[in-house]
Amino acid sequence: MTMSNKTYNIAVLPGDGTGPEVVHEGVKVLQTAADKFGFKLNFTTFDFGGDRYLRTGEVLPDSAPDELRRFDAIFLGAIGHPEVKPGILEKGILLRLRFELDQYINLRPVKLYPGVETPLKDKGPADIDYVVVRENTGGIYTGVGGISMKGTPQEVAVQSMVYNRFQVERCLRYAFEYTRRRNKTNTLALCGKTNVLTYVYDLWERAFHEIGQAEYPDIKRDYYHVDATCMWMVKNPEWFDVIVTGNMFGDIITDLGAITQGGMGIAAGGNINPEGVSMFEPIGGSAPKYTGKNVINPLAAIACGGMMLDYLGETGAADAIEKSIMNVTAHRLKSMAAGRMGYSTTEVGDLVAEGI
Ligand code: IPM
Ligand code: MN
Repeated sequence: MTMSNKTYNIAVLPGDGTGPEVVHEGVKVLQTAADKFGFKLNFTTFDFGGDRYLRTGEVLPDSAPDELRRFDAIFLGAIGHPEVKPGILEKGILLRLRFELDQYINLRPVKLYPGVETPLKDKGPADIDYVVVRENTGGIYTGVGGISMKGTPQEVAVQSMVYNRFQVERCLRYAFEYTRRRNKTNTLALCGKTNVLTYVYDLWERAFHEIGQAEYPDIKRDYYHVDATCMWMVKNPEWFDVIVTGNMFGDIITDLGAITQGGMGIAAGGNINPEGVSMFEPIGGSAPKYTGKNVINPLAAIACGGMMLDYLGETGAADAIEKSIMNVTAHRLKSMAAGRMGYSTTEVGDLVAEGI
């Protein structure tokens, strides 16, 4: 076992609802991995989220992005509060941090762990193991657009899908590099809609083939329209190795991907700035109805912790976390669903920690 002896400063944003509960288990497992593999984690907790907003009226202090930039990584639970109008916290915390910290990649593995039930008939862990590289700071999410004549029968609303060549290229290069490093079938699929979005996905497609041909001749290139991608993710998930796509399509297809790997209790993701600070967060939301009941599945958050260690270079510890998760899904949990795991949230955290 290699000991790195390093210290990493981690910003922890437990957030709303069940966020704090799953983050608690994530931190527990991370701490165990750090002790075992001989590195140090310094955790600093921030209270950004719905409760703080309701108390103070402030969504995110303007100093937050700069403060967070000083950390090695950010570990986030969930954002979203039932008493706050949808959009305020999501835009004001999550999207703002992704944009201001320039986390231009959203990395979302779709991996079915052993023992986990999938709604896909006749498919198992050997079939469902791919990664979606979602562009994370552009597209429809930039909010370019507006409303005029609001409230009248002539009301007009526009929200534009905006991409420039630079954004597209850096995302594609990341995806090509990632595919090469993953070294599974060395296949990168672009998910677009070139038959309708003839400007934006034309740009993506040209850049995809130009960069691929010139810089990554060893990587096979596939193309799928987004609607067809959804179909094949259900019918033939084994075709996929890495999928790269824009922000909106990436958001949509990763929920589909998540359910094929057992749902929100297990799906992990990372908002990556390869040159800056990255933020790891489960794909699932704050699940307010389960808050405080100690029944939510913490595996997604724990897996995020593993992704974070991998990103920090602690690959041995990251592998150990993933192996322990797989052991727990294969031999312990009855279901991935909240309340039906056969164990409490804290017990699942203990099981994974013990397995490291
Ligand atoms: C996600 C979420 C967010 C998104 C929301 C909460 C803004 O759905 O991380 O996938 O749309 O990106
Ligand atoms: Mn989403």
